[in-house]
Amino acid sequence: MKSIITRLVFTVGALVFIVPAVAAQGLPEGVTEQMITEGETIFKGAGICFSCHGQDAKGVPGLGADLTDKEWTHSDGTYEDLVATIMKGATNATGAVMPPKGGPPLTDDQVKAVAAYVWSLSNKPSK
Ligand code: HEC
Repeated sequence: MKSIITRLVFTVGALVFIVPAVAAQGLPEGVTEQMITEGETIFKGAGICFSCHGQDAKGVPGLGADLTDKEWTHSDGTYEDLVATIMKGATNATGAVMPPKGGPPLTDDQVKAVAAYVWSLSNKPSK
């Protein structure tokens, strides 16, 4: 009897700590820390995003936009919007073109990961 109560107390106690810890991360649905880390590798590597947006993603004048501010030209900047924008590409005011997926044949999962990384740049104070 006592052990059941002890277990219950522990379970409830653990939930009280675990639930807010998960919620506090505030990641969009479907996004994990792992995706953000993987996305950074893609951004700075195989995705060649860095070539137009810069290694620090702060943009290149006349070319790729700054992706670290909260100003979005092609969407509202939500995670879903970023996935959609990266999927279809974009053209800036001077006619510079970002092809779909930035050019390389990224998989859907890679696009989601790189979108998660881009999202994190303007939504996580630690980055
Ligand atoms: C060939 C150059 C080029 C490459 C490579 C490229 N982009 Fe872009 N990107 C652009 C241009 C140009 C725009 C439009 C910028 C504007 O309107 O000011 C843009 C826009 C964007 C936007 C929308 C910004 C906004 O303000 O709404 C996102 C998000 C983005 N790029 C992410 C990426 C990611 C992620 C990659 C890699 C998978 C990538 N880009 C690769 C040139 C590039």
